[in-house]
Amino acid sequence: MRLKTVILGFGKMGKIRYRALKAHGSFDVVALCDLDPKNLDGYSERQFADWQDCLNTVDCDVVFVCTYNNSIPDIVCRALEKGCHVFAEKPPGKTLEDAQRMQKVAERTPQCILKFGFNHRFHASVIEAKALLDSGILGSLVCARGVYGKAGSRDFPSQWRSDKTLAGGGILLDQGIHMLDLLYYFMGPFTHIQSEVDNLVWKDIRMEDNAFALLKTQDNKVASFHSSATQWQHKFQLELICSQGYISLDGFNTSTQSYGQETLSYVKKDLLEETGKLGNPAKYVYIFENDNSWALEIDEFHQAICRKRDTWNGNATDAVNIMSFIAQIYR
Ligand SMILES: NC(=O)c1ccc[n+]([C@@H]2O[C@H](COP(=O)([O-])OP(=O)(O)OC[C@H]3O[C@@H](n4cnc5c(N)ncnc54)[C@H](O)[C@@H]3O)[C@@H](O)[C@H]2O)c1
Repeated sequence: MRLKTVILGFGKMGKIRYRALKAHGSFDVVALCDLDPKNLDGYSERQFADWQDCLNTVDCDVVFVCTYNNSIPDIVCRALEKGCHVFAEKPPGKTLEDAQRMQKVAERTPQCILKFGFNHRFHASVIEAKALLDSGILGSLVCARGVYGKAGSRDFPSQWRSDKTLAGGGILLDQGIHMLDLLYYFMGPFTHIQSEVDNLVWKDIRMEDNAFALLKTQDNKVASFHSSATQWQHKFQLELICSQGYISLDGFNTSTQSYGQETLSYVKKDLLEETGKLGNPAKYVYIFENDNSWALEIDEFHQAICRKRDTWNGNATDAVNIMSFIAQIYR
């Protein structure tokens, strides 16, 4: 099935999605929209500066929303009401109420697929970890530790990400949301949350540059979580502790490779002190060279549209759940 597609917001993510859509082959990009016309230079598709004008004018099946966070809810609701399938970047709006508003419209338009870009679920190490957990060879997951941090940048305070009206929140809503989503993906919804949210170093941005949380599920699985914009050495680490073994995801393949090479290692519980294995069991290590997450994510969206699947990653329920954890962490 070929799908007429528009992309609203054509900065870094808009262009990443554009390349992934072209590579997929089933999406015909018919129009692009950005507040800044310079961002559309060199592209031959129909061009717009105003997203409402674009949606009112262009006949399309699919809308990609890659704008700043503040525009996401209005665009998503309007595009669903127009009868389009919608792929929107994370976060699903600035607040829990934004996510709930989009969910309500999605419920009224069940013929349309709504998917949010929680693309970390499509990284190779995460896919492998999910398969290992589902295989049962490491027993059941009992607790986890997730750390995700970056250093900001010289222009961090002047970026739109540091403007609360455009972004809605600091590092937790921008980057930490991905780690929170992975903890939720592996452990299920959290019912008890304790947190500490601070502005420790980036005093100009007046939003959190560090967020810490302890999260617990109904069945007593516990996760600790740290999201940071003061992680001067970039870091991605997710540890999954199971009753019969342990998985560690270290590093993450991104365009800058500043998080280190993406690896997954796992061990099985071995208490044989006499063989020297106690505390240092045989370790299995996978090293991943490429990042195929963008392609896999777009393909899942395409399959959801064509095969009318019931569930997909990043649906409206996921969005509301994650924004509810975030609201509780901020509280
Ligand atoms: N999935 C991921 O891993 C991931 C990674 C980075 C960013 N994001 C998300 O993607 C979105 C865009 O981030 P980015 O890094 O591409 O930022 P960016 O600044 O590179 O691009 C955003 C673009 O949207 C345009 N824009 C903003 N509001 C608009 C509006 N109302 N109408 C038309 N154009 C508008 C801006 O002019 C800009 O060119 C954000 O929501 C961000 O949180 C997701």
